[in-house]
Amino acid sequence: MSFRTIIEPFRIKTVEPIRQTTREERADALTAARFNVFRLQAEDVLIDLLTDSGTGAMSVHQWSGMMKGDESYAGGRSYAVFERAVRDVTGFAHVIPTHQGRAAEHILFSTVLEPGDVVPNNTHFDTTRANVQDRGGVALDLPIPEGRQAQSDHPFKGNMDVAALERALAERTSRVPLVMLTITNNSEGGQPVSLANVRAVREVCDRFGVPLFIDACRFAENAWFIRTREPGHEGRAPIEIARELFALADGCTMSAKKDGMSNIGGFLAMNDEALARRCRTRLVLTEGFPTYGGLAGYDLEAIAVGLHEALDEDYLRYRIRSIEYLGDKLLAAGIPIVTPTGGHAIYLDARRWLHHVPQREYPAWALSCVLYVEGGIRAAEIGSVMFGRQPDGSERPADLELVRLAFPRRVYTQSHVDYVAEVLIHLHAMVGRIRGVRMLDAPEVLRHFTATFAPVDRSLVVP
Ligand code: F0G
Repeated sequence: MSFRTIIEPFRIKTVEPIRQTTREERADALTAARFNVFRLQAEDVLIDLLTDSGTGAMSVHQWSGMMKGDESYAGGRSYAVFERAVRDVTGFAHVIPTHQGRAAEHILFSTVLEPGDVVPNNTHFDTTRANVQDRGGVALDLPIPEGRQAQSDHPFKGNMDVAALERALAERTSRVPLVMLTITNNSEGGQPVSLANVRAVREVCDRFGVPLFIDACRFAENAWFIRTREPGHEGRAPIEIARELFALADGCTMSAKKDGMSNIGGFLAMNDEALARRCRTRLVLTEGFPTYGGLAGYDLEAIAVGLHEALDEDYLRYRIRSIEYLGDKLLAAGIPIVTPTGGHAIYLDARRWLHHVPQREYPAWALSCVLYVEGGIRAAEIGSVMFGRQPDGSERPADLELVRLAFPRRVYTQSHVDYVAEVLIHLHAMVGRIRGVRMLDAPEVLRHFTATFAPVDRSLVVP
């Protein structure tokens, strides 16, 4: 007998209280934060869906691993445990620990990239793009066309456009030090990449003699999508799929704050020994000695355990289903979201939902503010505030105005998800009364973190 209900595959041993606030208290808190949810105090937030990065709950096995952390400066036992786990999952020969994903990106690009070089990727994540550009490189996004459409039924919207990659390489092979694939594709909605696409990208890379690196932050979620959506992989163990995926690449960058199930950490891994030696030289400058790389021994232990926990079938089934479950409820209520639902987040389509708010009044940003005031839920705008400012200082509306509800791993239960759905359905009834915001002040780069705003009509919602 098998039952249909998919449960959280854990029980709760330690709890962290969250605090109820009134709508009035939240309106005051948001006003004090100048209508930017990044500026709120976390204790004023009820359900925090700002990011799934570093915000997960660790298991008893991870905590007990941490007690065994060896804090030796060099040659610590915890490094050996970490190296063994990373090699077991990825198969890469050289494993370089870093304090988080962007440090791995920084070390890789500052080692291989010359000004004017081009890095093709399905879609660069912000920090990856920033690290390429920081070296004077060009970050070239080559998603398939479906990746750019908010609504589609393509099962692998994260795929790279292989023909476009071939053209890019034919034009300027000598300026491409590596090709990257981001799995899952966070910037296009947490959408997966198929094994067939990785294989096709690999073949093109081989033809032009260019190495392939994977941005592996959510590799386990991607493996689950391959198992459930790609013909021929049904029922396979996620770890086998992950190994097959990594075997198609020459190396990876990883933020262990996602599918490493850890609160901090990352790594850079590769097969090329000479490149690894050069990367380790840079590592010592900015992160630390090669057997700890900016982490404590106990962090290495937590990641070593977490990498395998992220591949657990019961966990992945629950993880991906909980996102889809919320998506199903919102679609049933007629709320526009990015479809199909991806791995770590639901993306609200604010342009379709708040079609009466012009893009210059930042509809997705306004929606993130109202979501907080009405329900105490914090989520991130991925729209014209994040992407609108051009390098020459001009303003251009983003292609999509999205609000990302990213779910920390093993933190919220089904009733939290039901609550989020209820708040959004409540917003659906008042959506026509939501007004936009204007930007008061913003720094030139990464402005969404600190920019300040005010409602255009003195109030976010017209009575
Ligand atoms: N690559 C991808 C695809 C990411 O999503 C992130 C982080 C990074 C690299 C950088 O890793 O944060 O450890 O330095 N994404 C987080 C997010 C911040 O909220 O999506 P990091």
